[in-house]
Amino acid sequence: MENKAHNLLSKIATNDGHGENSPYFDGWKAYDANPFHLKHNPGGVIQMGLAENLLCFDLIQEWIEANPSASICTPQGAVDFKETAIFQDYHGLPEFRTAIANFMSRVRGNRVKFDPNRVVMSGGATGAHETVAFCLANPGEGFLVPTPYYPGFDRDLRWRTGVELLPVVCESSNNFKITEEALETAYEKAKLANIKVKGLLITNPSNPLGTFLDKETLKHLVSFVNDKNIHLVCDEIYAGTVTTGDQFVSIAEVLEEDPTCNRELVHIVYSLSKDMGFPGFRVGIVYSYNDNVVNIARKMSSFGLVSTQTQHMLASMLLDNKFVDHFISESRVRLAHRHEMFTRGLAQVGIGSLESNAGLFFWMDLRRFLKDPTFESEMTFWRIIVNEIKLNVSPGSSFHCSEPGWFRVCFANMDDETTMIALRRIKTYVLKNKMLEIKTKRQCWQNNLHLRLSSRRIDDILTPHRMSPHSPLASPLVRAQN
Ligand SMILES: Cc1ncc(COP(=O)(O)O)c(C=O)c1O
Repeated sequence: MENKAHNLLSKIATNDGHGENSPYFDGWKAYDANPFHLKHNPGGVIQMGLAENLLCFDLIQEWIEANPSASICTPQGAVDFKETAIFQDYHGLPEFRTAIANFMSRVRGNRVKFDPNRVVMSGGATGAHETVAFCLANPGEGFLVPTPYYPGFDRDLRWRTGVELLPVVCESSNNFKITEEALETAYEKAKLANIKVKGLLITNPSNPLGTFLDKETLKHLVSFVNDKNIHLVCDEIYAGTVTTGDQFVSIAEVLEEDPTCNRELVHIVYSLSKDMGFPGFRVGIVYSYNDNVVNIARKMSSFGLVSTQTQHMLASMLLDNKFVDHFISESRVRLAHRHEMFTRGLAQVGIGSLESNAGLFFWMDLRRFLKDPTFESEMTFWRIIVNEIKLNVSPGSSFHCSEPGWFRVCFANMDDETTMIALRRIKTYVLKNKMLEIKTKRQCWQNNLHLRLSSRRIDDILTPHRMSPHSPLASPLVRAQN
């Protein structure tokens, strides 16, 4: 029956390239079935699998209230209602593209300028990735992607385009660095499998690691794609979430410093979903240094335009430099504080994480909690986390991590109180387990001691050769008597 129904539909409609049958989405389902609420459901599952940035909405609200003309549904903005409602053009509002280019630049500390004419819109970074994949590769061709990587890529780049993703295996032994060796190995493997490599896709800062690439590595990646004559797609949607420590370096800065590299191979994917915290507005950007890609991506953007109402409002907001600068710096402070609060709390009970200072998450190391170092054990422990500890964190396997035991924890999609409850739940679990471990060890030790003593007694009786020379049974006198 099901097959019959399937025959009526396309291959894309009936395959599971949407990726929703993975633990990444199962965790969301567990949350949906029993969502935590401070008052109404305090025993529910806390959602820590969602990379959302909710920490600065008070600043946004203040701006909205202070700028009523930016919204066309207010008495002050209603004069623009008609023009906004009837505008439809895949180039987008010129002031919107200027505002986006301005914002991309400010987020990167004004160290690099972006050209509004290269800004192409799409439905979130999700749509931007698919557009780029459609522009650069044919079905069956592939992109190299360093692991661990954002699970949505399996859907966004592959599902409807038929493009393949080819993992570049990165490991914890060097903090998941992208090495030349790993790149070459993945490239050669693709060649052996007869898959034409069309590009390298990086996420910088990384989701799920929360780290970003240094300039040397970026330069190296640029020369790698130049040597192979393949594309470099840089997802920089977390560019504005870098908090403390070293400064984030955009691929745009590397290109500006290197006039010899072929810029036409480089494309940036951006979005306002993370840095501004607006995933609901579906503002995605393709920023390509290749004129042909800009041209064709713009035509393709007809399938995923940003509503003109949203463009209109964001144009005003993102051209307000004073607001933008304050927002970015305050957001960084709040993210850093939350990150510190969580990771320090976990460290108190001996849980470590990869050192990081970007993104809306960190990469938690639970390798020592696994029964054995396998992905089956990772899933077993993940089920304990979701069903017993009642936290939806995402297992490393869903990010194609090569080593079991890593979990991504999102920390910016909740308030302080919920954060404390989540932390308390983990601490309680660890301490309870420690007590149990100590009790079991003590019991084992006691049992062993008892066993050792009693077996010694039996041994003593049964094996005279092991007896003390002072034992009466061992004495030649007794033996003689026997
Ligand atoms: C690295 C990365 N790229 C793309 C996306 C999709 O973003 P958007 O909501 O703009 O489609 C996400 C969302 O989590 C992401 O983490």
